[in-house]
Amino acid sequence: MLSCSLLIISLLVTPIQSEAQKGPIAVENWFSKLPNAKEKLTKLHFYFHDIVSGKKPTKTFASPTYFGLVSVIDNPLTAGTAPKSQIVGRAQGITAYTSFTDFSLLMTLNLVFTSGEYNGSTLSVVGYNPFTQEYREMPIVGGSGLFRLARGVATAQTAKFNRRTGNAVVEYNVMVLHY
Ligand SMILES: *[C@@H]1O[C@H](CO)[C@@H](O)[C@H](O)[C@H]1NC(C)=O
Repeated sequence: MLSCSLLIISLLVTPIQSEAQKGPIAVENWFSKLPNAKEKLTKLHFYFHDIVSGKKPTKTFASPTYFGLVSVIDNPLTAGTAPKSQIVGRAQGITAYTSFTDFSLLMTLNLVFTSGEYNGSTLSVVGYNPFTQEYREMPIVGGSGLFRLARGVATAQTAKFNRRTGNAVVEYNVMVLHY
């Protein structure tokens, strides 16, 4: 059983500060400490719910064609595969079908965390997602809050796909280096 949820990881790591202070002065103070700061590695695990049908779709699906189709998403991220499991954040952003020959997406997303230690912190993803392949790897290009100056990799693997509704649950493992 995959039990290393975001919350459990939150309990295992000892943060320098429980919450990143916000505002330009706080960010300047944070930067001034960087020369002596040690970079750390954080691992996150959650499930991404792509809800394209039903009463409350979390993705717009305006066209039956694929290439050129752009969707805006606000997908829940949960600690477990079940849609009702603990919400840890949202994946908010834009996905676009960008291949004439394959099913693949350009993903430009913010992972906006809303629970535990990372509540209020974000990670930004820009990457290539050939979603019919078993493993997809997307770069984490930055972050905010406790994830300032983050860089890393998100690995995505489809956990469930409902052919009738088109809804999918995607397991994400994220590794980020940050301060
Ligand atoms: C997350 O932070 C917001 C804003 O500070 C707060 O209102 C909310 O209660 C927090 N949520 C959790 C689950 O801690």
